[in-house]
This record gives sequence, C-alpha cells and structure tokens, in this order.
Amino acid sequence: MPAPASFSNYIDTHADAFIKRLGDAVAIQSISSDARRREDVIVMGNWLNGQLNELDVETKLVDLGTHEMQGQTLQLPPAIIGRLGSDPAKKTVLIYGHYDVQPALKTDGWKTDPFTLVVDEDSGRLIGRGSTDDKGPILGWLNVLEAHKNLGIAMPVNLRICFEGMEENGSEGLDECIQEEVKKGKDGWFDGVDCVCISDNYWLNTRTPALTYGLRGIAYFSINITGPGQDLHSGLFGRTVHEPMTDLIKLMSKLVDHNGDILIPGIDDMVPPHDEDELKLYQKMDYTIDDIEEAAGGKVALSSEKTTVLMGRMRQPSLSLHGIEGAFSAVGAKTVIPAKVGGKFSIRLVPPQTPEKIIPLVHAYLEAEFAKFNSKNKMEIEYLHGGKPWVADVRHWNFEAAKKAIEAVYKKTPDYTREGGSIPVTLTFAESLGVNVLLLPMGRADDGAHSTNEKLDRSNFIEGTKVLGTYLYEVGAAA
Ligand code: BES
Ligand code: MN
Ligand code: MN
Repeated sequence: MPAPASFSNYIDTHADAFIKRLGDAVAIQSISSDARRREDVIVMGNWLNGQLNELDVETKLVDLGTHEMQGQTLQLPPAIIGRLGSDPAKKTVLIYGHYDVQPALKTDGWKTDPFTLVVDEDSGRLIGRGSTDDKGPILGWLNVLEAHKNLGIAMPVNLRICFEGMEENGSEGLDECIQEEVKKGKDGWFDGVDCVCISDNYWLNTRTPALTYGLRGIAYFSINITGPGQDLHSGLFGRTVHEPMTDLIKLMSKLVDHNGDILIPGIDDMVPPHDEDELKLYQKMDYTIDDIEEAAGGKVALSSEKTTVLMGRMRQPSLSLHGIEGAFSAVGAKTVIPAKVGGKFSIRLVPPQTPEKIIPLVHAYLEAEFAKFNSKNKMEIEYLHGGKPWVADVRHWNFEAAKKAIEAVYKKTPDYTREGGSIPVTLTFAESLGVNVLLLPMGRADDGAHSTNEKLDRSNFIEGTKVLGTYLYEVGAAA
C-alpha cells in the first residue's frame, strides 16, 4: 500500500520548516564524549522529548544513572522511550536513533561553524554537525509524525521509539534499559513489537539508495604506558630513561601493516574466506574506486579492485590507530618527554568474531611484544568499549517493505549493503526482541559523518523522510 499523495505533498510543501527544525537541533551541541558538553546533551534530549510530545507521542525519559568520565561523575543523558498507537489490527514498528553527536571545532577544518546549520543553495547541502549522524534521520521521523498529525490521518502502524544520547560514546546503560523494558512483557512499552528500523547509516555511493543487512562489531582499546613520575625535559633525561612514548610507538607499529593486514595473530584468520557466490554480491554493487576516493577526499584506496575494497569494509575485520592521549600535540616544538601516554586503537569485527573472542588475543600479543623490549616502564591494556557484529535476513517482509518504499520514492532498486561501521544496539534489539532489524539509511556515502563539514543533502532529507513514511505504509500492508 503506497503512502497517500497528501503525505508526500505535505513533505514537499513543508521542506523549509523541516530544515529550520534541523537547524534548531544542530545548534544544540550534544557532544556525548565531552564532559563540558554533557549539559547540552541533556538539553537536546529534553528538546527532542518536547517535540515528540507535541506530535502526540507519549514518552518516558529513562534515567540511566551516572558514569565516570574525564575524572568526573557525570549524569548520563536520558533514553527516550516513546509510543504512539496500540491498535491490535496494526503492526508495531520500533524505531531507534541517537541525538548525541561527535565533537566538532571550527579549527578542525570546518569551512563554517559546525553548530550552525548552513544551507548551501548551490549544492543543496545542509552542513552542520549531526546533520547526517544522526539528527537528520531522527528529524525525518518527526517530519513523518508531523505530516500525519496536521493532515489528520492515522499512522499506518503503531510506533515505538527508542532514542538515546550516548551512542557516540559507547551507549552506556542502554542495553540494560532495553532489556528491562522487554522483560516487563505485557506491561512494557516494547510489548508486541513486530520489527525494528534504524536510520543511522549511509548509502554506499552518492546515487543509489541502500538497505543494510550487516554491521561490523568493534573492540576499542587503549595501551597505557607509564614510568616517570612526571613529564621530563628531554635535554636532562633523553637517553637516560625508558621513555613511555618510544615504547608506545613501537608497540602500536606492531598492530597493523601499511596495507591493512592485522598483525595480531589469529584475528584475520578467524574469518572464513568468501566463495564465488559471495564475490558476485560485491561485483554487482553500484560502486567504483572513484566513489570511495571521492568520499575519502583523496586517492588513497588500498586496492584498485572494487571487490577487494568492498570486502575489506564489509566482510573483513580492520584495525585503526586513532590517537595518543598525553602526547605533545600542540603547535611549536616543546622538548618534553611525556610521562604517561595512552595509545588508542580499535578493531572492527565481523562474524564469527566478538569482543570476548579477540580481547585475549590482543592481550597475549601486546604483552609478549612488550616483554621483548625489556622496558622498565609499565604497560597496561584497557578495553574501553565494544559490540558484536550483526547480519540480518534480507528476505524478511521488513526488508521487502523498505525496498518497496525506496522504489516508490526514488524509482530505483536499492543496493543491499553491509556496513563497516558499528551500531551495537542493533544486536541488542535483534536478540532481546527476537524480531527482524532493518537499517534504512538516509544520507549518502560522502556525507562526512564524524568528519569536518558533515552534511546531509536536502534531497536526502526530504526524499528520505518520504521513504521513512512510505516504509511504514508498506509494513502496515505486509502480510
Ligand atoms: N552512525 C554511526 C554508525 C555507522 C558508521 C554506520 C559508519 C555505518 C557506517 C554511529 O553513529 C557510530 O558512529 N557508531 C560508532 C559506534 C562505536 C562508538 C561503538 C562507530 O561506528 O564508530
Ligand atoms: Mn550514528
Ligand atoms: Mn556516529
């Protein structure tokens, strides 16, 4: 069943107001990984809750307690659990999104203020932190709700909502919150959920809408090296003491090769090789090396074979080095020996890998390598957070409904993709509710999530809103 024409018209005629609302959301600096911005994350949660209530969604703010971060005890932003409709004749769809964002500073290389949504009329880009990850998609759902309320038409499904404010920082407390809600059974707000839809990823390219049936998991570590009691002058202590940074760089260089191979024994080998049939899936995808290089902003692809690059992202693990806490990184040439450094890296996981399976391999390897240095410094491995990989059944009616919605709005058949990124809550929903989970991306491959000048194309916001709404109609009509 297609969405009524009045729905699509409403979205078109109210596009400017929707963009203004996205601007209001982007202006709230809800950076979950920065203790100084925690209050803003909570403000963002309250703003979103208010919007939902105005659109007749009944909500509850779940207090997830406190946590320790950057030497402080901080209140966690609330999970927003919502519901609208409980018609037993209709299907019940649970939607998830996150209202927190990654950090952003103008000085990182943004051309405009990251927290002022800029509408670039020439390119049609809506530029601002969170535009694509994940405020745009969340607001897409609000747009759908608004259209139905103001047109006076009933939603085609019962809706359940789970919006969180800690996704970019490990989703603390969320798994427990979901599991408790599910455990309440008939009295819980997730009772009767038939399927889940998450809009928090991106198309494979800039042309073709996608449906996503897999995500990599993640295990995030810090190698902490300490020794001297305080930072030292390299003129006074150079070549006289074991330097933590020297040990750390050497250790970090042993994790991954320049060609992407993971050097920790047992990790790459854990993944079964692909067969001919699987290879065909990757050959079929609407994708070129130019796409990846355009999205990356440089001619830096690891291979000139599209299938190699796609499989590297979708069906192989990867290890990335992220940064060094405590290292001198300011301008100038300070002659310091940092006393305490933390090298951050993470491993993206694919089935059958899980954080539990790979943590011991990481420990054993790093300890053995560090022992070879005969350093008097101390090395400690800290596991910061993680999540399991996920793969879904694309033949399910949930995926069929989304496919029809995309065909109706974009007049194109979607690419079926697995993502290289991670949304750990996906698996929590799949396992605790035992229903099919669909990832329905709004933005494009070159949106620059987490990067400078993050954007969402105006057409993706508007047509994407239509896809979300139409998808609900197709679910409503599914057998
Ligand atoms: N929206 C992303 C997830 C994502 C990233 C999907 C790339 C597809 C491609 C999400 O907000 C995110 O950034 N997730 C983190 C999770 C991590 C902190 C556990 C990620 O993937 O780095
Ligand atoms: Mn996201
Ligand atoms: Mn993100």
